[in-house]
Amino acid sequence: MSVTVVTYGTFDLFHVGHIRLLKRLRAMGDRLVVGLSTDSFNELKGKNVVIPFADRKEILLSCRYVDDVFEENTWEQKRDDLIREKADIFAIGDDWAGKFDELEDIVKVLYLPRTKDISTTELKTVMREINEEKVREAKNVATHLVDLLGKL
Ligand code: CTP
Repeated sequence: MSVTVVTYGTFDLFHVGHIRLLKRLRAMGDRLVVGLSTDSFNELKGKNVVIPFADRKEILLSCRYVDDVFEENTWEQKRDDLIREKADIFAIGDDWAGKFDELEDIVKVLYLPRTKDISTTELKTVMREINEEKVREAKNVATHLVDLLGKL
C-alpha cells in the first residue's frame, strides 16, 4: 500500500535544514505533500517573508523529494487536508513538538529533530548585518570625501 506523508511550513529562503527535513519525510513514504503557508497566512503568523508564495512553491516543486504542494491559509485546515490527501503520516520539525497530537486519531504524527545552526531567521539576521556593514562603509566613504572636499 502506498504511504502519503504531509508536512507544513513557510520554506522561505530555502536552505539545507529544509532539504534535510524533506529528504527524511520523503523516505518515510511514497508521496510527500507540503502545505505551504501563503503570504497572507505568514502575515497573520507575524512572519515577514522574503520570497513570495508562487516562487516558494516553484522552488519546493523543483525539489526531488516533494511530490505536491497545496496552500496553507489557516491553522484549522489540517484535518480536512489530511483526509483529502489520504495522508498516513503527518510529520514536521520538533520546534512543533506536541502541537498537533490531536490529529493522532486520523494519522501517525511525528516530530523530527531540526538541523542545527540554520534557520530562515538566522539567514535574515546575517543579511541584515551585511547590509548594515555596507551602510557603515558607505557612510565612512562619504565622510572621507567630505573631508577631502573641505581641504580643496
Ligand atoms: N526545519 C528543520 N531544520 C531547520 C530549519 C527548519 O528541520 N534548521 C524544518 C522546520 O522544523 C519545519 C520546516 O523545516 O518543519 C519548515 O520550517 P520553516 O519555519 O519554514 O523554516 P525555518 O528555517 O525554521 O524558518 P524560521 O526561522 O522563519 O522559523
